[in-house]
Amino acid sequence: MRFGHFDDEAREYVITTPRTPYPWINYLGTEEFFGLISHTGGGYSFYKDARMRRLTRYRYNNVPIDVGGRYYYVNDGGDVWTPTWSPVKADLDHFETRHGLSYTVSTGERNNVRVETTYFVPLATNAEVHRVRVTNTGDSPKSLQLFSFAEFNLWNAFDDQTNYQRTLSLAEAEVEGSAIYHTSEYRERRNHYAVYGVNAAIAGFDTDRDSFIGLHNGFDAPEAVVDGACRNSMVSGWGAIGAHQIDVELAPGEQRDLVFVLGYVENPQDEKWEAPGVVNKEPARELLARFSTGEQVEAALAEMREYWDGMLSAYTVSSGDEKVDRMVNIWNQYQCMVTFNLSRSASYFESGIGRGMGFRDSNQDLLGFVHLVPARARERILDIAATQFPDGSAYHQYQPLTKRGNHDVGTGFNDDPLWLIEGVAAYIKETGDEAILREDVPFDNDPDDSGTLFEHLRRSFHHALHNRGPHGLPLIGRADWNDCLNLNCFSETPGESFQTTENRTGGTAESVFIAGLFVHCAPDYVAMAELMGEQAEADGARAAAAEMSAVVLEHGWDGDWFLRAYDFFGEKVGSAERDEGQLFIEPQGYCVMAGIGLETGEARRALDSVAEILNSDHGIVVLQPAFTRYYLELGEISTYPPGYKENAGIFCHNNPWVAIAETRLGRADRAFEYWKKIAPSFREEISEVHRLEPYVYAQMIAGKDAPRHGEAKNSWLTGTAAWNFVAITQHILGIRPEFDGLRVDPCLPESMTNLTINRRCRGAEYQITVTRGGSPGVQVDGAALEGTLIPYATPGESVDVAVTI
Ligand code: BGC
Ligand code: NOJ
Repeated sequence: MRFGHFDDEAREYVITTPRTPYPWINYLGTEEFFGLISHTGGGYSFYKDARMRRLTRYRYNNVPIDVGGRYYYVNDGGDVWTPTWSPVKADLDHFETRHGLSYTVSTGERNNVRVETTYFVPLATNAEVHRVRVTNTGDSPKSLQLFSFAEFNLWNAFDDQTNYQRTLSLAEAEVEGSAIYHTSEYRERRNHYAVYGVNAAIAGFDTDRDSFIGLHNGFDAPEAVVDGACRNSMVSGWGAIGAHQIDVELAPGEQRDLVFVLGYVENPQDEKWEAPGVVNKEPARELLARFSTGEQVEAALAEMREYWDGMLSAYTVSSGDEKVDRMVNIWNQYQCMVTFNLSRSASYFESGIGRGMGFRDSNQDLLGFVHLVPARARERILDIAATQFPDGSAYHQYQPLTKRGNHDVGTGFNDDPLWLIEGVAAYIKETGDEAILREDVPFDNDPDDSGTLFEHLRRSFHHALHNRGPHGLPLIGRADWNDCLNLNCFSETPGESFQTTENRTGGTAESVFIAGLFVHCAPDYVAMAELMGEQAEADGARAAAAEMSAVVLEHGWDGDWFLRAYDFFGEKVGSAERDEGQLFIEPQGYCVMAGIGLETGEARRALDSVAEILNSDHGIVVLQPAFTRYYLELGEISTYPPGYKENAGIFCHNNPWVAIAETRLGRADRAFEYWKKIAPSFREEISEVHRLEPYVYAQMIAGKDAPRHGEAKNSWLTGTAAWNFVAITQHILGIRPEFDGLRVDPCLPESMTNLTINRRCRGAEYQITVTRGGSPGVQVDGAALEGTLIPYATPGESVDVAVTI
């Protein structure tokens, strides 16, 4: 069952009913100012950091779901309704929300009044623009009031939701003309405020929540809206809001546009005030003036469209399958950019006050956006690397505002350092910018202790090599990619963090997954060592990888699949010897991606085990059999009910590892099947089961042991976006940048016959056609190529590539 449809031409998902199985959201903003917006107008906005600079309030996990947003209400002769359906939920004659690339257009119509609101954050602007277009679609005149509403958050979202003894006494505001200024805490250490203005004369306003809504009312029936008149209230201490009243008279067929701007403004310290106690509004006036006409708004929308045209033109496919094309050309890349911007901070499953940027997460996210924003990827790499410790280990997270490592979470996740090698390699392959390896980068942000970026990679590589256990496999530390496999934790105290608590030290728990990761990134490390002229280091690394592969085959092989780990006591994890948790997905995918056991048959055997035991109708589960009780020695993984999250859920992040691994065996149909199972466009038809947005990946889909098998959780901000983009574009469609050229090596399912791909890489354009049948080979500008690696063309060149498979 569907609740809307894709409009590929417009690059939009069109939601045609408010009653989707969950709020389906979109993101506004591309650089520093962001908003989340659901299809029924819920959500909030912030500047840079969803915790420290939150503009508007949102109450997570609410009843009903998705309460709070920037709302527009209509009072049409006593009939009160909201064009976004929520929060009033009056029946609409027409409802439609179109989520596009960094904008959302929501339209509601009732009794011949149509309101179409376009929400977006213009490029290089720290504000949301809401263009509210009101049309009289009937044949008699209309006289109505339109009300705006935004509830201000007191900047620090954590404080805002917890410290009421203070926050209920803080609120302040100013009003000038049609603009409302939220100025709480500006009197002291803040030099920023929020402004909410409109390009029209107002009939009234409110800045005090209780005056506008009424203490005992909800967002569905604000007293001022019901009465048809704002109170002109000035907030004092309690909840600050911004609400405008605009009286709208419309002849039959007449349309009126109103432009609202909700923005963030910062003043220099010595220009905070324009008069004693009066905030300096000059920059806000300039901001409002930039969006005071319909033409300005149209121009800003056009600019944003161009921005996305440019961005998405680096990789486009025409495959004959619209579900593939819309993922590759539009939504997967879009999700990668949103994840680049927000990491794991603010979604409808991440509160915006919790996590910073993950070391491993950010490095993996890079794989999905490095072709979109290479310059920003470069900066990101240097930021991440600067949080590495001198011994090669890394802070697990860092804070985006300060770019400093997070002490609360600390270090000890032994896979972390290796992801830096994967991230840097992807960046250099895409851009050719080898010079980044020579950049001087501090360790732990200490300017007195630094080394080249390559030196950081060296310490990453050797950290894994030098921290090994009794079998010669890397020590796992607090956890590896699977944050919930906590082999040194032994937690018996409720509430203790499984990630940061180590109740037993001196443990020798080892990870086969980290071994696979090590072997996988070794060739890239070798290549980068050679770029640095470090031949001895390169040779040593090559030998170390060969040795690690041998160790995996000797001590990390269980007979039918790769083992997952050895626990604190040296017992096997992920082995047929166990009652539960016998087979885990991660090492099967990563070891085969690394090429371990390809020649000797283990790779094929492992992937066959995955197909037989872990595969399901909705994707590949993390493990089988699911844990049915808590295992003290395994940690958080056994805390989830069977089928959820790391306990045998379908973790969509690691499914593409198996798909990529299948392409190494040349099993194209299987690879494609795995990808399709979790790709949102292919799941659209079962939206009532999947429940989350059919245009972006979710982190998790409930596994076969769960009562709600197939139900997704945690959409948008997940490494799933990057890895699936890599799987489909680089390994299935098979176009991938390598250090010395563009690899053209499609591994296509039988169902795909002819396709064309346009790939821009290092400034040159590659027009690639793939045809099935005839003698296999690659032709470059008409000449036969030896192998599948096309040497990079000069920037500006256009290269014709014909591939026959
Ligand atoms: C989740 C993991 C997550 C970890 C760290 C756990 O509760 O299951 O997916 O990585 O927390 O935030
Ligand atoms: C989500 C975390 O962000 C990521 O770092 C981790 O690898 C997965 N969960 C699996 O535990």
